[in-house]
This record gives sequence, structure tokens and C-alpha cells, in this order.
Amino acid sequence: MDESKTKENEGRSTRPPATILVIFGASGDLTSRKLIPGLCNLAEDDYLPENFIVIGSSRSKLSDDDFRAKVYEGVKKYSRRPISPAVWEKFAKRLHYQPCDGEKVGDVEALKGRMEALAAEQPGVRFNYVYYLAMAPQFFGPIASNLKEVGLIEPYAKGARQTSVVVEKPFGHDLESARELNTIIRQSLAEEQIYRIDHYLGKETVQNILVFRFANGIFEPLWNRKYVDHIQISVCEDIGIGTRAAYFDQNGILRDIVQNHVLQMLALLCIEPPNSLSDADSIRDEKAKVLRSIKRMTPEEVRANTVRAQYTKGTVGGEPAVGYLEENGVAPDSKTDSYVALKLEIDNWRWSGVPIYIRAGKRLPKRITEITIFFNKAPDSLFKGRQVGELEHNVLSIQVQPKEGMSLRISSKPPGPRMRVRPVEMDFTYDSSFGVASPEAYERLLLDVMKGDATLFTRNDEIEESWDLLAPIFKEWESSNPPPVYEYEAGTWGPVEADQLINSTKDSWRKL
Ligand SMILES: NC(=O)c1ccc[n+]([C@@H]2O[C@H](COP(=O)([O-])OP(=O)(O)OC[C@H]3O[C@@H](n4cnc5c(N)ncnc54)[C@H](OP(=O)(O)O)[C@@H]3O)[C@@H](O)[C@H]2O)c1
Repeated sequence: MDESKTKENEGRSTRPPATILVIFGASGDLTSRKLIPGLCNLAEDDYLPENFIVIGSSRSKLSDDDFRAKVYEGVKKYSRRPISPAVWEKFAKRLHYQPCDGEKVGDVEALKGRMEALAAEQPGVRFNYVYYLAMAPQFFGPIASNLKEVGLIEPYAKGARQTSVVVEKPFGHDLESARELNTIIRQSLAEEQIYRIDHYLGKETVQNILVFRFANGIFEPLWNRKYVDHIQISVCEDIGIGTRAAYFDQNGILRDIVQNHVLQMLALLCIEPPNSLSDADSIRDEKAKVLRSIKRMTPEEVRANTVRAQYTKGTVGGEPAVGYLEENGVAPDSKTDSYVALKLEIDNWRWSGVPIYIRAGKRLPKRITEITIFFNKAPDSLFKGRQVGELEHNVLSIQVQPKEGMSLRISSKPPGPRMRVRPVEMDFTYDSSFGVASPEAYERLLLDVMKGDATLFTRNDEIEESWDLLAPIFKEWESSNPPPVYEYEAGTWGPVEADQLINSTKDSWRKL
């Protein structure tokens, strides 16, 4: 079949219904860096709704044309591929701007007028409403409440206009604030209308965990405590905190990366087979169960199983880097973690006794996110006395970024007369296997929210479980007699104490 026709058909069948997408925080970084480039890539693939209106909104006074020019700069700079002039031209006609302080009900009323006027240009079309809150969480409650007050949120019901609100991270600072935020937004919205975004879930490799586990016969029987020795999840960044000091120093890497992205990936990796892949709650129920099953630490366990650290000055990628405490905007006596290593355990039938090691840090030698499963070693009795050395783990690694793909390490005999054993890697990357680069996570997630599919968004109870399981760690770290904040030189793989944490069980961090 003609390839362009296949693409066309695919585009049609996956097109969401008529939608007005309102982006609050439209003058901000996320809109220019991710949201508009993501929408343009969807336009390039012909995935957008036939009837589609985007309204950017923030307090800045911009005209439609100012806004289009501003975000087009972002498209040129950040889009994963060039957007053709014809696609941009068509998309730009659907793009509008309405100045609006979301905290002022009068401004939201004016926004409503604009939405109605734009919808009236396409008579007979009933538009769903998607509100993307690309701004700090303190605005979520007031904006949701104002939208409801002016009648821009229809109650959740079958047959009603679909109204969805996407909220960005951070969702709370701890368990209490996350509960409070949930309570506030739930006053205006049903849980089904709230899409808490965790962009890691939109990444192809993360979604592929489900296909990999449940569409292959060979892995699922091994996916348990009998065959898995341990699991590692690494989220390594080479950058420092850049211009985000004000936010980062109040939060740290455990809150910024582990509470959301790492725990979501871990939950997906370790779920029981869900009832269905096509209803959002089947998968989310299973993820919530995993998060609930992760052992909560005692104060002694926090000291034994967690390591936090800050980078000192060093060299990253050949460039000098200042230490964390010297970064602009960081308090000179800050105890904030720019690196964390943890040992967790999922205390359920499938995973009990399997150590899960997590590390996340800034100013490490390179940017890489990887999930790695180490399978039990084979007994070496057949190879004793043959100078083959100790047999190694079979290792399955799932690379989430920067290059999405998977590899499986197996032992093999190198050619030659001697019986020797060497590890070899079988690799698969998206580019080479499918001939196309993966779409950006935001593309998939924007499309899903327009279709009303919440599978890849985080439910209220998952967020609260994640905060709950980290609560004992924060409590101990913030106690009057806290464990030390260790140091590591910028450009190295973290503090020696993190190596000791994993070495205590004879394992070691995977070389990345
Ligand atoms: N940037 C990223 O790559 C990224 C990645 C992941 C998550 N996030 C999350 O996404 C959210 C937005 O991040 P960002 O980097 O885009 O922040 P940002 O650049 O500071 O933008 C915030 C936006 O909110 C607008 N705003 C503030 N108060 C408002 C109000 N009362 N009513 C309407 N608009 C208002 C601001 O514009 P005006 O001043 O013109 O109103 C601005 O457009 C944050 O929660 C962040 O944690 C960002």
C-alpha cells in the first residue's frame, strides 16, 4: 500500500474530537519549549483534531501575532524536526492569544467570551475543552475555581462536553501539600477530569515496558524474585541547576526526579498484568498497588539505605563547573540534595527480597536515564577450572534517554579453540529498528488528553502513595540529628558512600 495513504489513514483513525485547548502560562518556557513544538509535530503527522483551536493565555499583553511570532521562535529552536512552512501556516491560523490573569474571575469571563467567539466561527461543532496549566501549582486551585465559576467546566458525566485540566509537576512538596492540592482542585473538578502529567510516561521506551513484558512469552516468567537478582534505575544529568536555583534549592533531586519520574517508571516496571490495556484505571490500579507495597523505612533504615550529596566544583564535559553551594541563588548553608541514592524493596509476592537501587543526580559525567534488570547468574559448575572467571548477570537495560532503546547482555563464546565466556550485548534502538525517531513525550500526552485517555497520567492515589513512601526519608533528613550531606566532585559518578550503599550487597552500579 502507498505509504502516504497508510499515514493518512493512521492519522484519521487516531484524530481526537473537536477541541479548544487553552494554555495558561503561554508566555512561559514550557509552552515555547515543549507544548507548541509538540503540537506542531502532531500537525506535521496529521494527528490534530479536524476542528481545533488553541488559545494561549497569560498575564502578558500580547496580540495573536506577537504570540505566534514568539512561539514560532521556540518551534524553530526546540522542535525535534523541522516543521514545514505549509504546516506552520495552517497551524498558526488555529493559534490565538488572550491576555488573562487566571486568578481574576473577570479575566476568565473574558476568556470565555473569546472561546465562544472562536467556536462560533465553526458553527454546528461542539468543542471539548482542555485547559493546560503550564504554571506553578499555587495557581491550579484559583484557576480551576474561576473556570468553574464562569461555566467553563462542565460536570463530569456521560454525554457531557469533555472538560479536562492538565496540571504540571510539582504536584505538592510533601504528602500533606499534595493532599491539600488534591482537595483544592477536586472542589472544582472530578478526578476523571484531572490529568496530572509526568512526561516520562509519554516516552516510547517507558510505554514499551508494557509491550515488552506482556507481548513476549519469554520475559514474563522471569519477571519475579526467583530470577531477578536486583534492579537499578539511574537518572543522571550532566547539567547543574542553571537558572532554576530558586525552585531546586527548595526541593532537591529526591522531590524533583525520584518522587515522580523514577517511582512512576518503577511502578510500571513492576506491576502485575492489568485487566486491560485500554482502560486507564486497570494500569493505574496496578501501579498504585506497587507503590503501596514499597516498604516504608524506619529511621535506622533511612540512615542505612539512603545517601544524599551535593556536588563540589569540578569539570563536566571538559568545562569547569562550580560547586552546588556556589551556584547563584543557592543558600550558602543549603542541605539540598543534588544527588540521591536509595535502596528500596517492594514487599509483595512477586518482588520480596529483590533490592531496587535508585540513583539520581546532577553534574554527573553524562545525561542518561536507564532502567536495568540484573537476572540471577547461572551456576558456574560447568566452567570451573577453565579460566572463564565468574559468570556475569544477564542484564536487560531499558534506555529511556537520550537514545531510546533496549539491550540484553548475554554470555557467549568468543571464536577460537579455547572454551571462554564473554558478555555480548544485543541492542535495539528506535531509530535503527523502526527507521524513525521517537516522538517527544509531550506529543503523545497532548494527544491522549484530547482523546480523554488518562492511562499515561498519574492518579491522585499514586501521587499520595509516592509522597507517603518518601515521607520517612524527609522526616529523618530534616530531623534535629540528620544524616550527613555527602560530597562528590562535579563530573564524577556521585559520592563514594553511594558505592558503599550498593557494594554492601556485593552489587555495583552499572557503568553507563
Ligand atoms: N520549562 C520546562 O521545560 C518544564 C518541564 C517540566 C515541567 N515544567 C513545569 O511547568 C510549569 C511551567 O513551567 P515554565 O518553565 O513554563 O514556567 P515559566 O517560564 O515561569 O512560566 C510560567 C507562566 O505562567 C504565567 N502566569 C503566572 N501567573 C499567572 C496567572 N495568574 N495567570 C495566568 N498566567 C500566569 C506566566 O506569564 P505571565 O507573567 O505573562 O502571566 C508564564 O507564562 C511549572 O510547574 C514547571 O515546574 C516545566
